[in-house]
Amino acid sequence: NLSVCLKELEYSTPRSCKELKQRFDFNTDGLYYLSTASGVVYQTYCDMTTAGGGWTLVASVHENNMYGKCTTGDRWSSQQGGSPNVPEGDGSWSNTVTFGTAEAATSDDFKNPGYYDITAEDVAVWHVPNNKRVDHWKVKSFLRYHTETKFLNSYRGNLYNLFKLLPVKFGVGTCPTNHGPSVPLVYDLGDATSNHNLYGPNIRAQTQSGFITFRAINTEGAAMAICSGVKPTGCHNEHCCVGGGGHFPEASPRQCGDFTGFDWDGYGTGVGWSASKQVTEAAVLIFYR
Ligand code: G3P
Ligand code: CA
Ligand code: CA
Repeated sequence: NLSVCLKELEYSTPRSCKELKQRFDFNTDGLYYLSTASGVVYQTYCDMTTAGGGWTLVASVHENNMYGKCTTGDRWSSQQGGSPNVPEGDGSWSNTVTFGTAEAATSDDFKNPGYYDITAEDVAVWHVPNNKRVDHWKVKSFLRYHTETKFLNSYRGNLYNLFKLLPVKFGVGTCPTNHGPSVPLVYDLGDATSNHNLYGPNIRAQTQSGFITFRAINTEGAAMAICSGVKPTGCHNEHCCVGGGGHFPEASPRQCGDFTGFDWDGYGTGVGWSASKQVTEAAVLIFYR
């Protein structure tokens, strides 16, 4: 009967793209429905082909206005100004609030229930120019890489739990003592050199490329979520890391926002501490497997 049939369907709705691939043999990149353990159904993008496939898109960090400085659209830092009274900002890295849609993941921030529901071992990241259509993401991306160390096993299986253990919060630690893990990368498009060249020469001199770093701290004790492609060797990490807490003391609020201090020496100039226009105008898509 129908209700039994629907129940079956519900029970069998996969919780990740990996499960979708393994159990149902779906092998095409694109949008699919997944379900959380508690039955929340959502749509997201699955990369079914890179390095064996089974990668679930769980988040995108998108900078809608580099000049905004912790205002509307800064969901991965703070939409509430840059005050020390809101040290965790919007808290998106370690809460269950979701926003955006998979289809618009290069045009706005995106966070789905998979971010906290899926138990994963590795992450992949794509840098995709803003405002690209889903079926063009892969071909329009200019940098794609993933981890293979299964590091998430040491952080309770996902970034939600990792950032509970390592809060993205102003004042939580000092640089370099309290950085989270730096995990080596395998590049699927681009390489460590092209990755490094996306950032300004001053910060290139203070980072090693070919790693993804979680919860970095800067000189003034501001916390950042993800340094995409680099391992800090200095402390001005606001020029190469995305997402953060709600307060960046240096010249506050100039470094507060989803792409932190990427525009310190001008928007998209790629000189001094500033990031290139290419990386400034691209969404950071985060996958689990
Ligand atoms: O992060 C860079 C800043 O701390 C120093 O900037 O402009 O004095 O080179 P500046
Ligand atoms: Ca944003
Ligand atoms: Ca600085």
